[in-house]
Amino acid sequence: MEDPATDTYLGDSTISVQHLELASGGKLPAVGLGFWKVDKSITPDIVTTAVDAGYRHFDCACDYGNEAEVGVGLQRALQSGAVARDDLWITSKLWNTYHRAEHVRPAVERTLRDLQTDYLDLYLIHFPISLRFVPFDERYPPEWFFDPQAASPRLELDPVPIHETWRAMEGLVRDGLVKNVGVCNFGTSLLRDLLSYADIRPAVLQVELHPHLTQEKLLRFCSEEKIAVTAFSPLGAQSYFSLNMAKQSESVLAHEVVKDIAQKHARTSAQVVLRWGVQRGTAIVPKSSNAERLHENIALFDFELSGDEMTAICALNRNRRFNDPGDFCEAAFNTFLPIYE
Ligand code: A2P
Repeated sequence: MEDPATDTYLGDSTISVQHLELASGGKLPAVGLGFWKVDKSITPDIVTTAVDAGYRHFDCACDYGNEAEVGVGLQRALQSGAVARDDLWITSKLWNTYHRAEHVRPAVERTLRDLQTDYLDLYLIHFPISLRFVPFDERYPPEWFFDPQAASPRLELDPVPIHETWRAMEGLVRDGLVKNVGVCNFGTSLLRDLLSYADIRPAVLQVELHPHLTQEKLLRFCSEEKIAVTAFSPLGAQSYFSLNMAKQSESVLAHEVVKDIAQKHARTSAQVVLRWGVQRGTAIVPKSSNAERLHENIALFDFELSGDEMTAICALNRNRRFNDPGDFCEAAFNTFLPIYE
């Protein structure tokens, strides 16, 4: 992915879109590698394989538990001379336990240390959920439970307003620790509220997006507000089978419409679904732990879907959200915690 030819902000469908130009002036590579559920033991090798395959955008988070290993891989790539730091786009996310103003900076400092970098290109609030603080030296990453050893462990909420967290995020930009700030898993109401007081506007919104959850109104709102959107789980159910959070019948990749389009273009179903993602103007962060699929998932810029094909894929929408705290927090953490309703 060298020499991005056309940089469009939530662009029209053009084959050469390789970066999204942010309102801040930053250039977000349209395809990134997500690290959620990437096993620590293979993470450094995945990073170097990905760099060799052309990935420059790495989507990390404290909660993924593998930032130190991503850092090892990035250092290897940098020291080999394959890339320079300026060529990379590194995103990380503030975990739910660090929303209080005094915890935001220590949280990013820990992430920077683990990733072995002086700055992040993008730091996102991971969820609009604030959990009670767990000291860094007690447990890191703290994950969801306040006390996993309790007889009946649960989540413990901490009532921190988002504006307190956002002010601290803005401070990170001013102090040069991060270049851009943004949020994940916000809807239009939370975004509108945030925009009412933000001195530094959110550059990026990261949400679940795929053909079974197309979120057209949210994308339109973000386009109007010049907030770029990154799709997580861009392959839909794929990430959720092993977690028992999706049924095989919900596979986007096995859908006849997708399979037919893939056959016409002599591409895989995954490539068609990912191409649909970048062609509608979003960045995508598919995860893969497999070298062949890593290559497959970035080879998206030498074919184009027709308008009818784009429409046919959009029509697969079922408003199906696989990653919903309103479901998984009750199933896995004994706590009813809806955020989208
Ligand atoms: P694997 O790591 O074995 O490749 P997400 O949607 O959250 O990014 O997760 C991607 C999921 O889809 C992972 O389970 C990953 O498994 C799988 N996957 C990634 N790329 C492809 C692909 N090209 N074809 C099929 N499955 C894929």
